[in-house]
Amino acid sequence: MRKKIVAGNWKMNLNLQEGVALATELKDALAAEKPNCDVIICTPFIHLAKVADVVAGTVVGLGAENCADKEKGAFTGEVSAAQVKSTGAQYVILGHSERRQYYGETAAILKEKVNLALANGLKVIFCIGEVLEEREAGKQNEIVGAQLADSLFDLTEEQLANVILAYEPVWAIGTGKTASSDQAEDMHAFIRGVIAGRFGEAAAENISILYGGSCKPSNARELFSKPDVDGGLIGGASLKCADFKGIIDAWK
Ligand code: PGA
Repeated sequence: MRKKIVAGNWKMNLNLQEGVALATELKDALAAEKPNCDVIICTPFIHLAKVADVVAGTVVGLGAENCADKEKGAFTGEVSAAQVKSTGAQYVILGHSERRQYYGETAAILKEKVNLALANGLKVIFCIGEVLEEREAGKQNEIVGAQLADSLFDLTEEQLANVILAYEPVWAIGTGKTASSDQAEDMHAFIRGVIAGRFGEAAAENISILYGGSCKPSNARELFSKPDVDGGLIGGASLKCADFKGIIDAWK
């Protein structure tokens, strides 16, 4: 059975003290009331080592929001997968649309990042999704299919077992405009079919596919009720413990 997951993506928010406080609040809330899904928080690099100490031995998993496409060396300002792993983090988000759009991350760069992350023992939360014009042109399947093929199709089935997918329609991210649960289900079922076509039915059945884009406590239950929606990748609503917990509780 594939995992149900709610993952937070803090993006470039919260200073170190605020991040530690939020992680502590979340850890305490989930200790008081055990979640029915896996819970992960993905934080800026600067939070990782401290938050790793806060969540060690709890149900809360920890991830980075990015890592370098190079192994090590003279790459000023970059953070490698091995460095992320050494903080105690277990996950890394790769391919987020903000990285693709604002930092020019191509499919080839992302392929390198995925390989390095997996080689260093991190699990990858790999994001895919179309922009508004692509959806309006009816090209969303073509775009998402290519994103999967171009960065993930050279993995082995064993490597794919350490990948979580996150479908995030770019037009729904931070806009308050959520995909309908039917739009999400259509795409998630398509994605699972693409994975089945390349890696086989078992791999497709086992991979978790999260929805992301203006997911909040008020719509999470409806989205998660769909058979191919295995949870959410949450931006804005992961910055307040009560909102994030409200989404986690949608699995109850
Ligand atoms: P949002 O972001 O929940 O703020 O829309 C989701 C994401 O970008 O992962």
